[in-house]
Amino acid sequence: MNDAKEEIKARLPIEDVVGQYIELKRAGRTLKGRSPWGVDKTPSFMVSPDKGIWHDFSANKGGDIFSFVMEVEGISFREALEKLAQQAGVELKQYSGNDKKIAEKKRRMRAAIELACKYYQFCLSKNKSVCEYVFYRRNLNRATAVEFRIGYAPKGKNYLVQFLTKKGFKLSELKEAGLLNQYNGDLFRGRMMVPFFDNSGDVIGFTGRIIGDGEPKYLNTPETLLFNKGRFIFGLTQAKESIRKSGYVVIVEGNMDVISSHQAGVKEAVATSGTAMTENHLKILHRLTDDIRLAYDGDAAGIKAAERSISLANNLGISLKVISGYHGAKDPDELIQKDPKLWQKCVEECEPAVDWLLKKYELSLDLTTGPGKKEYSDIAMKMINQIPDAVERKHYEKLVAKKLDVSVEDLLSKNIPMEKTRLKPIKTKDKKADRTLTEENLRSIQDSLMAIMIYGGSAGGEINLEIPEDETKIAELELIFERNYSKLNGEDLKKEARALFARYKREKNQYEIDELTKELEAASDDEEKTAELLRKIQLLRK
Ligand code: UTP
Ligand code: MN
Repeated sequence: MNDAKEEIKARLPIEDVVGQYIELKRAGRTLKGRSPWGVDKTPSFMVSPDKGIWHDFSANKGGDIFSFVMEVEGISFREALEKLAQQAGVELKQYSGNDKKIAEKKRRMRAAIELACKYYQFCLSKNKSVCEYVFYRRNLNRATAVEFRIGYAPKGKNYLVQFLTKKGFKLSELKEAGLLNQYNGDLFRGRMMVPFFDNSGDVIGFTGRIIGDGEPKYLNTPETLLFNKGRFIFGLTQAKESIRKSGYVVIVEGNMDVISSHQAGVKEAVATSGTAMTENHLKILHRLTDDIRLAYDGDAAGIKAAERSISLANNLGISLKVISGYHGAKDPDELIQKDPKLWQKCVEECEPAVDWLLKKYELSLDLTTGPGKKEYSDIAMKMINQIPDAVERKHYEKLVAKKLDVSVEDLLSKNIPMEKTRLKPIKTKDKKADRTLTEENLRSIQDSLMAIMIYGGSAGGEINLEIPEDETKIAELELIFERNYSKLNGEDLKKEARALFARYKREKNQYEIDELTKELEAASDDEEKTAELLRKIQLLRK
């Protein structure tokens, strides 16, 4: 196992692994980027290619490629190992029984789906009228069809099932891969097939569009071991490079909008496939960029979906931009059919979600009447109060005041309870949250102290902590030392170390008092125990 781990580390440069999620810029021997966890704007995330480690100074965590993928994807060590092994082309042999079974199952599913994809591509090439639909009605060019691996699922008999069972797949395997309907026949029939790719470019499912009219218009792979629609983002594999380069992402509603957009040169387009936007989708995209542009359809459903996404993003402290208008077209695809240049222009002319929403309310309400003004200001202030940045907030307050021909003071004197509307500062009074905060503080101070102890020469002599044995941790401490302390001279470093140590003792003390207080609450029935705990707390307070 350790051999495999080392082999994977040797084959996958850490900057490449991390670079799949975060934009990294070189700064001397290290690379810097924005924390995938914080919403901070300063690059507090560091990667050391020499040492093969990363450290996040805003969230105070770090480690190697495995811990990074675990944290960023929210997956177990085993899953991270599997994922990176696959990227590195390293075969994992010594699996435990259960993991081995699941990994094997997934491997078979991937194999079946890959073959299905090839089969659909082949069927498209053989069917003239469907080719006409793909290449002339939908206007895809050959390169796009090849890149997105467009295919055709034939009508009628269970062609795919026959093909795959001949290749040695069991019906149960095809079922698990999401390729069968309830009668164990082909799920997709008579549809243009659009594959779903995962991060490594493997096909994990499909969406099939009916050719011409019919219901349902799109049929999607059900949830499987490989395909999770709440996390899946259509087009992301193809868009990732461009998103990093141009610094923004465009979220459209339909999968075909994504494909057309790529063909039209806006390769930053992605879609949440056949499902509403989830927190996971937003978090995944926010790791790549701050500039997230919504380009939903112009109809009522699209506007409603945009509003929903905006408020979802608000709750996460993410601000969105909106692309709208489409010069009369109903969605990006239709606009692109008219003129790809117009779509590019629309994408450039995006506006902050707040501006877009304000304009919409302005149009739907009568701002010449008292009640109209009241309603408009109610909605507007509620929205503005959610903006965490004071300067930005002031900008919109002025804007709205001007629109209503009142002063900003008048507007602010409206009686809208702040605590109900201001969503951003998520400071809870929850004891548990407080405790984890102390714990995190403690860990951060401890890391700094250990860094000074190991790399700070004589200044570290005064500190007494156990040296960690984990090599990754030690390398991480070096990174902390280099960034925060290497520029201090001996005297200043000593001073810093003493101050840190004092803080450490204080925090540790508080942490222990908190823990004992917790015990005290639980032991309220036990007099003897209560007395003992109280004595201990007294001692710590001194
Ligand atoms: P639309 O109906 O807006 O798709 O649904 P579209 O891209 O404009 O379709 P075309 O241009 O007529 O081919 C948007 C998205 O909603 C999901 C699909 O993911 C689609 O891309 N959807 C729609 C379904 O999952 N099932 C459906 O029956 C319809
Ligand atoms: Mn469309």
